[in-house]
Amino acid sequence: MTPRKIIIDTDPGQDDAVAILLALASPQDLEVVAITTVAGNVPLALTTRNALMMCELAGRTDIPVHAGAIRPMVRDLVTAEYVHGGSGIAGAGLPEPTMTIRSGHAVDAIIEIVMSAADGEITVCPLGPLTNVGLALVREPRIAERLHEIVLMGGGFFEGGNRTPAAEFNIYVDPHAADVVFRSGIPITMMPLDVTHQALTSPERLARFAAIDTPAGRAVHGMLDFFERFDIERYGMQGAPLHDPCVIAYLLEPELFGGKTVPVRIETASELTMGMTVVDWWGATDDAPNATVMREIDADRFFRLLAERIALL
Ligand code: BDR
Ligand code: CA
Repeated sequence: MTPRKIIIDTDPGQDDAVAILLALASPQDLEVVAITTVAGNVPLALTTRNALMMCELAGRTDIPVHAGAIRPMVRDLVTAEYVHGGSGIAGAGLPEPTMTIRSGHAVDAIIEIVMSAADGEITVCPLGPLTNVGLALVREPRIAERLHEIVLMGGGFFEGGNRTPAAEFNIYVDPHAADVVFRSGIPITMMPLDVTHQALTSPERLARFAAIDTPAGRAVHGMLDFFERFDIERYGMQGAPLHDPCVIAYLLEPELFGGKTVPVRIETASELTMGMTVVDWWGATDDAPNATVMREIDADRFFRLLAERIALL
């Protein structure tokens, strides 16, 4: 089968970094046509540096990396160094990248790639705030009909929020961009906290990465070892949720996930619930369904897939 063409739009972040590695370890399934970076977990200069580091770690210096939006569409940037460490990928233990970014803003790169590809050829995978994708839709609305789908990490409904009681980080940081994306008509598959909070690291699961005696295995183990401290200490969780790798795992093995196609709207008005993903799970409205919202994951198979693929790098 021809590999599926994807653009990864990302703000690495340890979990973004692992998602990028999972995609780059799977060339038989996925062709990463570009990585576009956005400000989110840490400022843009760092998310871009971290994306370049992951390409180098995977031996894929051929991947075009384009830097994107430096801040959200309307609101001030909110970052999450308290989760990810000052660099965004604390624990990776890697040298500074020598690879450089490609010229051209990420928003232009997304438009150019989608408009020059065949209809339905490109899938966009946002792993951070939706600023770049929202801006691309505002600048060139025709990309909406040309995209195959968007598979994103963001939101939460039964599980609530992680940045505020109501809102998940990615949607909270740029709710206006998220609103543009969820109103675009593009088929959306959404990996919310309801799924990712079931994909938790554990000592046994981390040991599988420690056993991979390669630079990638060591970096993944180091990053996740750092990353899980926050969730264990702050939330009393068993380990760290591997949010963003769920997006790539879904592209590789969709049967690991279960959900429902329902209407989803984004809160952009109330300060109290800003960035909330309002999911009409029970059909309380007549709104048209616009997103497949995942709720179930086979976490054991997910971690097995992740370890198998990372071992290939
Ligand atoms: C999301 O926010 C970031 O901290 C993670 O990288 C993930 O994309 C989880 O809420
Ligand atoms: Ca992210």
